[in-house]
Amino acid sequence: MSKNQRGSENENLQRSTVAVIGLGQMGTRLAQAFLSAGHVTTVWNRSGAKADALAAQGAVRAATPEAAVIGSPLIVVSLPDYRTVQDLLQPLAGSLDGRTLVNLASGTPEEAARMADWAAGHGADYLDGAAMSGTRLVGRPEALFVFSGSQEAFSTHRSVLTSLGNSVHLGSDPALASVYDTALLGLAWGALAGFYHAVALVGASGVDPADFAAVATGHMPFVTSLMADHARQIEGGRFPDDDGTVEVHAAAIEHLVRTSRTQGIGTDVPELIGNLLDRATASGHGSSGIASVIETIKKGPRNV
Ligand SMILES: NC(=O)c1ccc[n+]([C@@H]2O[C@H](COP(=O)([O-])OP(=O)(O)OC[C@H]3O[C@@H](n4cnc5c(N)ncnc54)[C@H](OP(=O)(O)O)[C@@H]3O)[C@@H](O)[C@H]2O)c1
Repeated sequence: MSKNQRGSENENLQRSTVAVIGLGQMGTRLAQAFLSAGHVTTVWNRSGAKADALAAQGAVRAATPEAAVIGSPLIVVSLPDYRTVQDLLQPLAGSLDGRTLVNLASGTPEEAARMADWAAGHGADYLDGAAMSGTRLVGRPEALFVFSGSQEAFSTHRSVLTSLGNSVHLGSDPALASVYDTALLGLAWGALAGFYHAVALVGASGVDPADFAAVATGHMPFVTSLMADHARQIEGGRFPDDDGTVEVHAAAIEHLVRTSRTQGIGTDVPELIGNLLDRATASGHGSSGIASVIETIKKGPRNV
């Protein structure tokens, strides 16, 4: 690189709105979303080819991670885990002062809390974050990103972070994004496990998966409306039986188990639900509404 080229790269770096460090599947999509929204975006990646590809799309390529950090008030890091983030940033920690560090690596609430302390110790505002909708939707309003940590930093950079999708700030506790990350993963898998079982069940009767999916997605607004209603019931500690009692649902799930067995498919998914409902009944909630299973879950398997 010539002296002139280096000079013009440095000028560009000074004007960047956001830097993305780590250009794997996720980091590349993040950088593309920032670029599409018109933000001057600096990129750095360990292996250069991915940064070259983004430079061809209009990104400013930083020669080092430190150059990326120095040139931008907002640093978004997308690396495999917290250890990698820490190892990469430690040597350049002195350059973080006055900047906002957004860490989108997956990890635990404890790791998020430690990283927030570490960033604060180097004068940086910290936002922990999690990408909840895979990579394909990044940059579209339906892509959910959750953040927690500095409210001020989120307010300052909200418009930039919103170019990633539906960016939600959960609160000032930096661990919250990680807690939501795991909770939402469990929710998605609960729904998907039910879906895969259902596809196998109707498939045994010759139904095409896509035909079933069309009917099932139309049913989802009812299921999501139950989440809103039942959250209110759980908050109030009262479980009316408007949506059926635990015993009624236990009987219905038993039909699902029997039908699955008859069709020759696995019964593990409905049995999981059946066990939960049976334990709720055994602990005295048989005639309560189904949201009362929260009490059984909170107590754990050995304390019915
Ligand atoms: N992909 C998804 O659908 C998805 C969804 C939600 C959350 N996430 C989370 O997003 C984070 C990134 O995931 P990803 O899918 O983008 O991973 P990925 O495609 O495997 O990319 C990993 C990135 O980290 C870099 N890297 C790895 N080790 C490094 C090191 N020691 N020093 C410097 N750079 C290093 C790689 O650089 P090289 O290119 O040089 O190897 C690459 O840019 C993870 O925490 C993941 O859990 C991913």
